[in-house]
Amino acid sequence: MKGILVVHSFSGNTFSVSEKVVNKLKKEGHDVYIERLETTEKVKNGTPLSDIHLKNMPDLSSFDFVILSSPVHGGGVSSVMKKFIISSDSINGKDIFCFVTHFFPFAWMGGNSAISQFKKMCSEKNANVIDSSVVNWKNKKETGIGETVSKALDYVNSLCQK
Ligand SMILES: Cc1cc2nc3c(=O)[nH]c(=O)nc-3n(C[C@H](O)[C@H](O)[C@H](O)COP(=O)(O)O)c2cc1C
Repeated sequence: MKGILVVHSFSGNTFSVSEKVVNKLKKEGHDVYIERLETTEKVKNGTPLSDIHLKNMPDLSSFDFVILSSPVHGGGVSSVMKKFIISSDSINGKDIFCFVTHFFPFAWMGGNSAISQFKKMCSEKNANVIDSSVVNWKNKKETGIGETVSKALDYVNSLCQK
């Protein structure tokens, strides 16, 4: 299966988990690309979406599976990832796996609300989040990275069976 992982990462946490996901999927024989969203100017907390300009706008149309990943910002998806979702035409009709990384130790402290926002934004673009995961960065013992990697693999395998 051919897939793409589109990631926004401000300080590198989400990107490092995304690399682990991609490496695992490659090991399992999938053809997967990773693309990190970049902006033309630095985005500050509170920058309106209309002032965010993406340098790259990955085209999802040719991919069998799509993974989106974002840090939690203010209890939601990062504004750069929001900008990507609302601007993307090729997201239409896709079955998606998404995950977030956040600082607090439990998913209910921001991670779950960001996932709900991911689902809502995707459904507004006629895309379907079929599974998701939260990485709690502060909790060193059980960060959820392994679980995220295995859920991503399960998601891809479920699409293979369709
Ligand atoms: C502007 C901003 C807002 C944030 N808001 C939250 C938040 O609401 N809840 C939370 O748990 N972590 C929050 N964080 C922490 C990040 O979600 C966390 O450190 C994440 O792993 C960073 O991912 P990154 O390195 O890929 O950018 C925030 C970080 C920034 C910079």
